[in-house]
Amino acid sequence: MKKIVVLTGAGISAESGIKTFRDADGLWEGHDIMEVASPQGFTKNPKLVLDFYNQRRKQLLTVQPNEAHKALTSLETDFNVHIITQNVDDLHERAGSSNVLHLHGELLKVRSTVNENDIVPWKKDVNLGDLCSNGHQLRPHIVWFGEQVPLLDTAVAITQTADILLIIGTSMQVYPAAGLIDFIKLGTPIYFVDPKPSLNASQYEHLTIIKDTAAKGVPKLVADLIKTKA
Ligand code: APR
Repeated sequence: MKKIVVLTGAGISAESGIKTFRDADGLWEGHDIMEVASPQGFTKNPKLVLDFYNQRRKQLLTVQPNEAHKALTSLETDFNVHIITQNVDDLHERAGSSNVLHLHGELLKVRSTVNENDIVPWKKDVNLGDLCSNGHQLRPHIVWFGEQVPLLDTAVAITQTADILLIIGTSMQVYPAAGLIDFIKLGTPIYFVDPKPSLNASQYEHLTIIKDTAAKGVPKLVADLIKTKA
């Protein structure tokens, strides 16, 4: 079976009702990204940051996977599929994808502010005073700007062995995630689905741009890949 690696970003969840980061003047749900997604922001105003993610978590529990998330699951009958997502939502899992790596963490988990490996599932609000088993404040299990990306090496290893790379709904602005494309083997076909693609076909050999939304473009692409087993 050929191995398909799928790199997804906020755009794949846009049609489920989750806002992207860079489509709204640098504001994310009305906030400066650095205020709510950096260790400095958390130190400055932990309550604001916890409340912000509490709202995102509540919202996540009200939305559903869309046709793009669902279509990717049907690839699994013919391909060995690995999803590497920058998203912190669980919509790939809820759609039924088997292998999902969350480069930037997960909204439905929290971790100790002292031990980054002390991670627990969490669906309710996180408040100041909510502590891990060792008595330290809990924080969202999210990789903020300026923090290490613990699963990067795993993501690189997966990408290096891809036979086909799909990139869906990402501005390819945030590193190291955006740099994963440079780890593919020479000659690997790349398909990029995004209504405002930030790459153009001349930048990479074997790059096909599909200028469409995820919910429309991904099911078509998946059907073509399954048909041709290409
Ligand atoms: N279908 C597909 N793509 C879409 C859709 C849609 N319906 N709507 C918007 N897009 C595209 C935009 O054109 C853009 O290229 O989704 C992309 C969203 O880009 P960003 O908002 O920058 O999101 P992303 O690339 O995932 O951001 C990366 O930045 O803030 C951090 O950690 C956060 O994981 C995030 C990272």
